[in-house]
Amino acid sequence: MNKIKIVKGVVAANCHPEGCKAIVQQQINDVKNSSPIKNAPKNVLVLGGSSGLGLASRISLAFGGGANTLNVSYERPSTEKDSGTAGFHNNLAFQKFAKEEGLIAEDFIGDAFNADMREKVINFIRDNFGQIDCLVYSLATGVRPKPNGDGKWKSVLKTTGTPFTGNFISFEPEAMVPVTLEPATDEEIEGTVKVMGGEDWHEWIDVLKTAGVLAPGFKTIAYSYIGSDITYPVYFGGTLGKAKEHLHATADTLDSKLSDINGHAYVAVCKAIVSKASVFIPGLSTYVLALIKELKARGEDETTAQHMHRIINEFLYNPNGTPTDEQRLIRADNFELNPEVQNKIKEMIKQITPTNYKDPNVGDYESYRKEFYQINGFEVDGVDYN
Ligand code: NAI
Ligand code: NA
Repeated sequence: MNKIKIVKGVVAANCHPEGCKAIVQQQINDVKNSSPIKNAPKNVLVLGGSSGLGLASRISLAFGGGANTLNVSYERPSTEKDSGTAGFHNNLAFQKFAKEEGLIAEDFIGDAFNADMREKVINFIRDNFGQIDCLVYSLATGVRPKPNGDGKWKSVLKTTGTPFTGNFISFEPEAMVPVTLEPATDEEIEGTVKVMGGEDWHEWIDVLKTAGVLAPGFKTIAYSYIGSDITYPVYFGGTLGKAKEHLHATADTLDSKLSDINGHAYVAVCKAIVSKASVFIPGLSTYVLALIKELKARGEDETTAQHMHRIINEFLYNPNGTPTDEQRLIRADNFELNPEVQNKIKEMIKQITPTNYKDPNVGDYESYRKEFYQINGFEVDGVDYN
């Protein structure tokens, strides 16, 4: 069952557990081949640590800094008939490798928005760590339950202002199709901000701080994307951008709130990465094909693990202080935003069409496609799929 990929559009219905484990191992190797974190935190809570940026951050902190980690993620376990989600197997692999190094690695599967989950996390921290030194906030989801069982907020992928048409790449069937995003209503914008903005991050910090489980010098980080004028209509100028603006403002509020324990809150602006969440965004896929090709040509392409390790090591835990821009944002998107790279991408995107998008001369579709399959454990070198 596991060697057959079941993919619909950009959604993987199954995964390959051995492949997931091999990908986690590769990410660990990426981190171990980079320089270690000098003043790493001892005990870390990761919200959304089973895949994407959160998993890579957890790997950086554990294998690049020797941190104990507690991760909360929403994943489906495997059953006899179902492989479960990739994130579930990533967690198992992470636990195995971390425990081999004598690190505490715990996973809570469930809803990070839920009050009972927060209670469980606080109890675990008290029993095992006393206090935490770091919280990585890396949830990506489409819904957030309103308090008191009063329905749900939904995030939407829309523009604000005028409609925008961008190409969407489906992996199964393989096709590039134009998709038009309509402008969001005020209610839809509000929903997206509620789900993907900073409110839940803020609540977590409040609850943990009140419980007294944040150590002196505590740091917290959340992840953002800004992109360029090419991606502006679908991202920063759209509903997701409104949520990210809220997240950026939340970092400043939290930074002040944490000053009494000498703590800090940051947002890191990351590069565009192929993840379970990002493959949905029309326009972004074409941009990413071109971006990967150009960064590879320049020798500046970082794996997800390398990128997140750079954020943790050279920014968040930089012994000389955390470098930020004038808006107090960590800017790890410097390679992507280099004007030379952006100009090249603009030229490339003009050439990419629904008939030629797989052509290695116009973009790096093969890397994009492979990355998608690999985050689900497929097409991983060294894994025996027979
Ligand atoms: P992802 O889909 O790979 O990871 C999302 C994580 O959130 C998973 O661990 C999942 O289990 C967890 N999760 C979702 N709903 C949950 C819930 N209710 N309770 C507990 N856990 C839950 O997504 P990705 O791409 O790593 O995104 C993480 C953050 O990074 C997001 O804020 C995203 O906007 C941001 N980001 C992503 C970029 C990209 O290119 N992929 C670039 C810059 C920022
Ligand atoms: Na994540």
